[in-house]
Amino acid sequence: MEAHRSPPEVVLTLLVLLVFVSCFARAQNNPLRNNTERSALFDLRSSLGLRAKDWPRRGEPCWNWTGVACQNGRVVGISVSGLQRTRAGSVNPQFAVASLANLSLLATFNSSGFALPGSIPDWLGQSLSALQVLDLRSASVRGPIPQSLGSLGSLHSLYLSGNSLTGAIPSQLGQLSALSVLNLSQNSLTGPIPQTFSTLSNLISLDLSSNYLSGPVPPGLANLTKLQFLNLSSNILTASIPNQLGQLFQLVELDLSSNNLMGTVPVDLGGLRSLQKMLLGNNGLQGSLSDKLFSNLTRLQFLVLSDNKIEGDIPGVLWSMHGLRFLDVSGNNFTGVLANLSWNVNSTNTMFNLSNNLFYGALPTSLGKFSLIDFSGNYFQGKVPNDIETNASLNRNCLQSVMDQRSSEDCRLFYAERNLSFDNFGAPSPAESSTKSNKRWIFILAGLFGGLGFIVLLVLVLLLLLRRCDKRIASQREIANVGPAPEGRSPLPAKVSINSSGVGELFTYEQILHYTDGFSEINLIKHGHSGDLFRGILESGAPVVVKRVDLRALKKESYMMELDVLNKVSHMRLVPLLGHCLEHDSEKLLVYKYMPNGDLSNSLYRVTNLEDDNLQSLDWITRLKIAIGAAEGLSYLHHECSPPLVHRDVQASSILLDDKFEVRLGSLSEVHAQEGDSHQNVITKLLRKPQTSEQGSSGTYNLH
Ligand SMILES: *[C@@H]1O[C@H](CO)[C@@H](O)[C@H](O)[C@H]1NC(C)=O
Ligand SMILES: *[C@@H]1O[C@H](CO)[C@@H](O)[C@H](O)[C@H]1NC(C)=O
Ligand SMILES: *[C@@H]1O[C@H](CO)[C@@H](O)[C@H](O)[C@H]1NC(C)=O
Ligand SMILES: *[C@@H]1O[C@H](CO)[C@@H](O)[C@H](O)[C@H]1NC(C)=O
Ligand SMILES: *[C@@H]1O[C@H](CO)[C@@H](O)[C@H](O)[C@H]1NC(C)=O
Ligand SMILES: *[C@@H]1O[C@H](CO)[C@@H](O)[C@H](O)[C@H]1NC(C)=O
Ligand SMILES: *[C@@H]1O[C@H](CO)[C@@H](O)[C@H](O)[C@H]1NC(C)=O
Ligand SMILES: *[C@@H]1O[C@H](CO)[C@@H](O)[C@H](O)[C@H]1NC(C)=O
Ligand SMILES: *[C@@H]1O[C@H](CO)[C@@H](O)[C@H](O)[C@H]1NC(C)=O
Ligand SMILES: *[C@@H]1O[C@H](CO)[C@@H](O)[C@H](O)[C@H]1NC(C)=O
Ligand SMILES: *[C@@H]1O[C@H](CO)[C@@H](O)[C@H](O)[C@H]1NC(C)=O
Ligand SMILES: *[C@@H]1O[C@H](CO)[C@@H](O)[C@H](O)[C@H]1NC(C)=O
Repeated sequence: MEAHRSPPEVVLTLLVLLVFVSCFARAQNNPLRNNTERSALFDLRSSLGLRAKDWPRRGEPCWNWTGVACQNGRVVGISVSGLQRTRAGSVNPQFAVASLANLSLLATFNSSGFALPGSIPDWLGQSLSALQVLDLRSASVRGPIPQSLGSLGSLHSLYLSGNSLTGAIPSQLGQLSALSVLNLSQNSLTGPIPQTFSTLSNLISLDLSSNYLSGPVPPGLANLTKLQFLNLSSNILTASIPNQLGQLFQLVELDLSSNNLMGTVPVDLGGLRSLQKMLLGNNGLQGSLSDKLFSNLTRLQFLVLSDNKIEGDIPGVLWSMHGLRFLDVSGNNFTGVLANLSWNVNSTNTMFNLSNNLFYGALPTSLGKFSLIDFSGNYFQGKVPNDIETNASLNRNCLQSVMDQRSSEDCRLFYAERNLSFDNFGAPSPAESSTKSNKRWIFILAGLFGGLGFIVLLVLVLLLLLRRCDKRIASQREIANVGPAPEGRSPLPAKVSINSSGVGELFTYEQILHYTDGFSEINLIKHGHSGDLFRGILESGAPVVVKRVDLRALKKESYMMELDVLNKVSHMRLVPLLGHCLEHDSEKLLVYKYMPNGDLSNSLYRVTNLEDDNLQSLDWITRLKIAIGAAEGLSYLHHECSPPLVHRDVQASSILLDDKFEVRLGSLSEVHAQEGDSHQNVITKLLRKPQTSEQGSSGTYNLH
């Protein structure tokens, strides 16, 4: 059993194996026997100035020289890539490889990264007829590509990239029928891409990027049926993308970016069914994208169309391509609404750049977790969906409550030009934010502080007026005991009219029980000073508030006095009394009009639901309106009705608001002879945070 072998046995077996392997390797790798080749290698060693460390003089070249590959005692490959020259050798390095001509079986020469300053010798193509791989990447090679390279009939890989090659690409390269890899990128080559390239029928990878190649993309490239990689980017190629390229069924990567290509993206590219990367950015491509273009490109992972002039919609099929990892359509004139798209892309590790286009409407919802999504520089409007990920760029749009948006002028123009409705950043009137600058927040803040200042000013003026009137009335009273109300104080003429029907309609106790569901807890609004307030609905469907005054807890006279007052006074600033019921001795009922907007304490700091913005609490225009309304009401109570009513301390809960936020005072009448609150006190309270407790001094009672 093998598993029970002793350690020495294992060692022995391994040793035998090792000897066998090395003998076999030596049989394959005979020492260099051909003296012509031996001397050629030594010539090369000295002409390149290679170090003894790498190519030892006493060593066997086929065994001990780094990068020398032999077969049957003949040299078949030389790689000086990664080697260093001796100090003497690096004084004046040259493209000195003449001795290679005496290595007649040389199949590979690799000098990638090893500097060979100078131009490629013309004899190279004639002499190295066995050459299959020539790698001169980043080897400081300059000058033109010799035409003779076209004679290297066995060449299958030609790497000349990253040098300073100049001149045109020789058309003779088209004769390299065995060529499968051609990399001429990152040189200074000029002129057109040779038409003859269409005959390189074995080509798998063609990289001509980063040169100064001009003229059109040859349609003949379509004949390169084995082509998997085509990079023509960063040249100055013109004309349109040939339709024929769509026949490259094997093509995996297509990079035509950063050229001067014109015309539309041909729908025929839809035939590139193996394509994973399509890079067409930074050209002059126009027109719109056909839906058919992407329907067969099911393997597409990278699509870059940025910085062109493409317009119209993004083909819907793109939004449901599962493989798509990177989409950059930025800097075009793409348009359309993306709100209702079904984004079926796998957004994990996915990057979409839709910036600087003309997309509009609401932002798409439920985007998933893109690693990056750039919506900036479009015309999206409305609110940002809650589930939008944090790594979404949203600036320079028309979105609500987002920093750094377009000016409303810009946005309005865009939507108006297309006959679309624009929400104007959610603001009620377009006039408010029609300023040119897009620094919207500055204006909001300025508006806020400006508004505040305006209100403070108005209140001051109001206080001044009221105080002066106080004095005037006081003096008038002294003279004439009763005087007319001063004129021109309030913007609204105070319509004083004694309610001819007295204290309104007479209700039966049963009726009121019915209206309030028997004073059910659900209908209880609050416990007031002088009685509980209940919600009620009349037969007509009109909502009312019923006040139940418990006379056992209240002095009867004060209740009668309230009725008496209400009998005499009615003012548009007082809450209207609709009726009453006095059937029960111990319990009196008063029916008031229902104020839909409650009292000031509810409205001023209204609790907003989380869905909405914080724009729900009272705006300053409304606050001002309320301040004036309250002042009018108080002014009436003090001066215009006779005898003047002196009320108890005004609280926010006394200031009721009807459906139009007009003030109707309630909860403030204690009729007594002494002066109560000053007006200043009342007005200042209006603009302060209200107290929520309804505790007044005992013995007072409310109108409401
Ligand atoms: C050359 O390589 C052979 C086999 O790889 C080895 O036995 C020999 O010691 C090496 N000679 C030198 C000088 O490195
Ligand atoms: C090639 O080898 C021959 C004979 O060894 C020699 O005369 C000739 O100079 C060599 N050619 C080059 C280019 O080194
Ligand atoms: C030795 O090498 C030279 C050049 O590679 C070649 O022409 C010659 O035929 C070779 N001689 C033998 C005996 O293989
Ligand atoms: C040339 O050598 C470098 C460094 O060893 C290597 O990375 C490269 O693949 C080689 N070139 C070819 C064509 O094999
Ligand atoms: C061509 O060469 C350049 C520079 O050496 C390299 O970056 C690029 O990847 C190569 N192209 C291909 C297709 O290998
Ligand atoms: C094409 O070449 C350019 C420049 O050489 C390079 O930046 C780009 O990545 C290449 N494209 C692809 C798809 O590799
Ligand atoms: C491409 O191939 C077709 C048929 O294989 C041939 O007729 C045509 O001439 C070729 N085009 C070029 C430009 O070589
Ligand atoms: C997509 O593939 C189908 C079937 O292979 C083919 O009929 C159709 O023409 C292709 N569409 C495009 C735009 O190439
Ligand atoms: C893109 O749209 C903008 C705004 O509508 C327009 O001014 C510009 O001319 C358009 N560009 C192209 C290339 O159509
Ligand atoms: C999107 O593209 C624009 C320009 O085309 C670029 O400035 C921006 O950085 C890109 N966004 C992301 C997230 O890469
Ligand atoms: C998008 O959806 C909204 C509501 O979800 C709908 O009102 C609107 O008509 C839809 N728009 C389109 C173009 O389907
Ligand atoms: C989405 O892609 C990630 C990797 O990019 C992968 O792990 C995940 O399984 C994919 N999800 C689906 C539903 O294909």
